[in-house]
Amino acid sequence: MVKPKVYVTRQLFDEAIEILEEHADVEVYEGVDDAIPRELLLEKVADVEGLLSLLTERIDAEVMDAAEGLRVISNYAVGYNNIDVAAATERGIYVTNTPGILTDTTADAAFALLMAAARRIPEADRHIRARGWIHAWGPRMFIGTDIHGKTLGILGMGRIGSAIAKRAKGFDMKVIYHDLYRREDLEEELGIDYKSRDEVLREADFVSLHVPLTPETHHMIGAGELEAMKETAILINTSRGPVVDEEALYEALRDGAIAGAGLDVFEVEPINPGSPLLDLDNIVLTPHLASGSVETRTKMATTAALNLVSVLQGKEPPNLVNPEVMKIRPIVK
Ligand code: GLV
Ligand code: GLV
Repeated sequence: MVKPKVYVTRQLFDEAIEILEEHADVEVYEGVDDAIPRELLLEKVADVEGLLSLLTERIDAEVMDAAEGLRVISNYAVGYNNIDVAAATERGIYVTNTPGILTDTTADAAFALLMAAARRIPEADRHIRARGWIHAWGPRMFIGTDIHGKTLGILGMGRIGSAIAKRAKGFDMKVIYHDLYRREDLEEELGIDYKSRDEVLREADFVSLHVPLTPETHHMIGAGELEAMKETAILINTSRGPVVDEEALYEALRDGAIAGAGLDVFEVEPINPGSPLLDLDNIVLTPHLASGSVETRTKMATTAALNLVSVLQGKEPPNLVNPEVMKIRPIVK
């Protein structure tokens, strides 16, 4: 039997490619450092039944229409704002993601950003490397703000939001949150309090964002929200860049409307080298690495591969984003 064709948009881990190769004729984009050019993607998908994509590819109706036989788009990410899910469903294409496995790794990174910003670790590191530590130890040298005993405000209490709440509890922080869905189970389990979004912004010493990017969450944090936050507050974003209005954030950090920020995600990635954020000392920047541990990135790859081959084998994939699709193109063995 001829194996179905599958295209993978970036070099992945061998474990994942091996899973795919058992069931498919696999081609992988040769690039390591850069995303596949759009034109090449449109060409490569022409005869594939499965596409394994990254958050760097916009998978919209144009891509789907260029891929007449496409049955499954398996995204190597928990977030899937890069995929037009409605267009996929309409066309009977299954969309999958990699939830769950990256939850703790991402929460670890969010907490690391919080701590780095609070205690000014990267700024202090830069100071030493620039041979700037030339004076005697002093009581005010690189003093930051406490983490323990402070209030963490979480916007978006999904898996990652609750994992960071657990970490905060271990640091004796008070945790407040807002989400469209109230989580009374977690309030009980973790001892956290539900608040309005405004209350979270006003009361928190640290605000950490854990919402998906949707039209409703685009620029959810803008000038007004930053103004509502405490002047001593620190904003952490490991979700998606466009959730924060970066220009408003720059102004708030420059003018002291808030004290600091830790960002792992940006409105444009890679960040524009001319971005004024790069000139501020009160911000910690990392290049969208929150899920980036060897263990988790490998597991994400094998999960994405298993999701993809499930559909090729006529099985319901473990992490289906658009279950409505099963009515349009029922699972066939
Ligand atoms: C990474 O940003 C992801 O959504 O998995
Ligand atoms: C992602 O895993 C989330 O639901 O927060």
